[in-house]
Amino acid sequence: MLLTFTMASIGVVPFIFLLLLVDCCSARPFYSLPSKIENKNKQPLQTSRPYNLAHRGSNGELPEESAPAYMKAIEEGADFIESDILASKDGFLICMHDVTLDATTDIAEHKEFANRKRTYNVQGVNTTGFFTVDFTLKELKSLRLKQRFPFRDQQYNGKFQIITFEEYISIALDAPRVVGIYPEIKNPVLMNQHVKWPGGKRYEDIFVETLQKYGYKGSYMSKDWLRQPAFVQSFAPTSLIYISNQTDLPKLFLIDDVTIPTQDTNQSFSEITSDAYFNFIKDYVVGIGPWKDNLVPVVNNYLQTPTDIVAKAHACNLQVHPYTFRSENMFLHLNFKQDPFVEYDYWINKIGVDGLFTDFAGSLHEYQEWNTPLSVNHEDKSSTLLRKIASLISKYKKN
Ligand SMILES: *[C@@H]1O[C@H](CO)[C@@H](O)[C@H](O)[C@H]1NC(C)=O
Ligand SMILES: *[C@@H]1O[C@H](CO)[C@@H](O)[C@H](O)[C@H]1NC(C)=O
Ligand SMILES: *[C@@H]1O[C@H](CO)[C@@H](O)[C@H](O)[C@H]1NC(C)=O
Repeated sequence: MLLTFTMASIGVVPFIFLLLLVDCCSARPFYSLPSKIENKNKQPLQTSRPYNLAHRGSNGELPEESAPAYMKAIEEGADFIESDILASKDGFLICMHDVTLDATTDIAEHKEFANRKRTYNVQGVNTTGFFTVDFTLKELKSLRLKQRFPFRDQQYNGKFQIITFEEYISIALDAPRVVGIYPEIKNPVLMNQHVKWPGGKRYEDIFVETLQKYGYKGSYMSKDWLRQPAFVQSFAPTSLIYISNQTDLPKLFLIDDVTIPTQDTNQSFSEITSDAYFNFIKDYVVGIGPWKDNLVPVVNNYLQTPTDIVAKAHACNLQVHPYTFRSENMFLHLNFKQDPFVEYDYWINKIGVDGLFTDFAGSLHEYQEWNTPLSVNHEDKSSTLLRKIASLISKYKKN
């Protein structure tokens, strides 16, 4: 926690300026679309160390999926900003994790929408709430975001709007260095059930068209991809296979908890983590995104022996990007002694993952800059000096 607070204070001046801008101009989109900044002279994406994937932006500090959460993550050193894409009633794509607005917006305070509460079957579970698919974009824009967890900073509640997929893309394109996007095709079964697009198009079609509109294309590590990096993720294998003919952007197959079957193909966890399945899906995706506790099971808050899932995935040349790393004590297993750096060290150096979805992009960035700095030029001098002292002391320790 201490670490996080320190990080937050570093960027506080430009950040407050951004907050003011976002707050005062809420009636119209803040970002000019499309981006006007050229990528030519930007610092490129780092590709030498596991990717820092800012889960819903810097949502440890700011309301998830808000513009400031994404801008903060960029400021803190994220390689990719991650987002969940859902649809509005009138077919616009927006950034929102839950299919309902209840947990992360002020919908409860909007009496004019009180009659919009519905119960829908979401992946076999009757779910009641205010669904994004029952609101137009204009109505969604009248809501304000809030922090999901009560133990996180509440001071930004009620300040920021829901943003569209296009606004999220613009934030990445406007970053002062190359920052990738990592959008999820979220709940495609539900989206296609409730929202109709002209010409019989599917939610996945609109999703890919949006990426193409802003120039996202190219296979993993191609020149086009490095210019505007993007990973497309989904828990629904049929969506990933469906778009494989529409875009060669790299895709990742997300893997849910052991008890939850896939939403589209109703396949079990053991089925989709088998060698046979990895051999099938590797033709469509460059990696998998599993929950970390399913890679290394946890009992009584202590890690057990790692499963062979990472080894099996790597044997199929699939990257592994587990979720979700959270720096707070209540999420850190006891092996890590309340220290997120120890957790990052374990997953990067012992398990060998290729990317990490973190709620605290700043803490992962600090860990990586300390242990595997990209270049001395980009570092501040005090940390170079500290590292030198540390290495001098460690020489004496050995004797
Ligand atoms: C969900 O609600 C429907 C309609 O009320 C009902 O028929 C069904 O049994 C419910 N399903 C579950 C899993 O509770
Ligand atoms: C993709 O295109 C190939 C070749 O045209 C075709 O055989 C295949 O069925 C298509 N796949 C999908 C998912 O549409
Ligand atoms: C999904 O698979 C399970 C286990 O095979 C089965 O019991 C269930 O009926 C299936 N559900 C659907 C919606 O097909």
